[in-house]
Amino acid sequence: MKVLVTGAAGFIGYHVAKRLLERGDEVVGIDNVNDYYDPEIKEARLRLLDEASRKTNAGYHFIRGNLADKSVVDACFADHAFDRVIHLAAQAGVRYSLENPHAYVESNIIAYTNMLEACRNSAVAHLTYASTSSVYGANTDMPFSEHRPADHPLQFYAATKRANELMAHSYSQLFGLPTTGLRFFTVYGPWGRPDMALFLFTKNILAGEPIKLFNNGNHTRDFTYVDDIAEGVIRASDSPATGNAAWDSSRPDPATSSAPWRIFNIGNNNPVKLTAYVEALENALGRKAIVELLPLQPGDVPDTFADTSALEQAVGYRPTTTVTEGVGRFVEWYKAYFARA
Ligand SMILES: NC(=O)c1ccc[n+]([C@@H]2O[C@H](COP(=O)([O-])OP(=O)(O)OC[C@H]3O[C@@H](n4cnc5c(N)ncnc54)[C@H](O)[C@@H]3O)[C@@H](O)[C@H]2O)c1
Repeated sequence: MKVLVTGAAGFIGYHVAKRLLERGDEVVGIDNVNDYYDPEIKEARLRLLDEASRKTNAGYHFIRGNLADKSVVDACFADHAFDRVIHLAAQAGVRYSLENPHAYVESNIIAYTNMLEACRNSAVAHLTYASTSSVYGANTDMPFSEHRPADHPLQFYAATKRANELMAHSYSQLFGLPTTGLRFFTVYGPWGRPDMALFLFTKNILAGEPIKLFNNGNHTRDFTYVDDIAEGVIRASDSPATGNAAWDSSRPDPATSSAPWRIFNIGNNNPVKLTAYVEALENALGRKAIVELLPLQPGDVPDTFADTSALEQAVGYRPTTTVTEGVGRFVEWYKAYFARA
């Protein structure tokens, strides 16, 4: 299997690419290694992918390029014939989308369009791409189900990801391109993103500085460990989307279609209070946090909770990592990474 992984220098892309290499797939990674957060952590992930490919002798090639540049995407697809495409590159982050919406247009709309066109033109057998739990936006009907509409995003980031799902539908419908959108729920673990809570909290607790708990710490999140996510992404990618023969246009199911298009939640199906997440971190670090309680921020979703039964039924996805285990592994990695740096 020859697989293109976009965003391979990123948090989830790195874990997915590594797992594919370890099972012997040929992997092409692409990333522009941008400086949304410290690019050194991206370079370090890329060095580990090099190492993983040498250990397994699996074919591996990395392209440094911007997917918003159509010529970069076209050259990549001209040089390689892919069996599967896993598109994880994007401008991530909820809060930054309030400051710099154009970064989201470039990486989530223009780059995404280039990817759809390239997959269509080279008749890729399956495109799997990252969406987000943020698309549920103003929905409060828990657990969040793909089978209910998600059309009230609370920030531009979510709006671009919801747009990706709809753009995919048009390509699946018009050109028969099999596509699967995965709505990730707060992913955490080793090699995590420096702009996300776990990383920021760890840094501040170790420095004896306060951590900010928005919504007075009352958030709940369906925190999902990155290895569980990587396993689910690969299982979904291995099983190309097909049309749903029972899809009824008079009562349209928002998660499926008569076209080869589908949407899945990929979460932990076990929401945890933010304060319990912090407690797990304090236990792993052996230090207490200084907590600053703050109100809900604009664009923040108070609670997330994934119904993951559809992905479980389709591909046997079953997350197994508890927050205590996962946070412990993150802390081990964090200490080792900064001891080396
Ligand atoms: N981490 C989470 O909790 C989470 C939650 C929901 C959705 N997601 C989605 O999952 C995917 C991966 O997220 P992540 O946490 O690994 O983020 P990340 O920022 O670590 O990885 C994204 C990678 O894409 C690259 N990239 C961005 N724009 C690009 C472009 N135009 N051309 C080439 N490369 C580009 C970046 O350099 C980065 O390495 C994203 O689509 C994100 O929106 C993540």
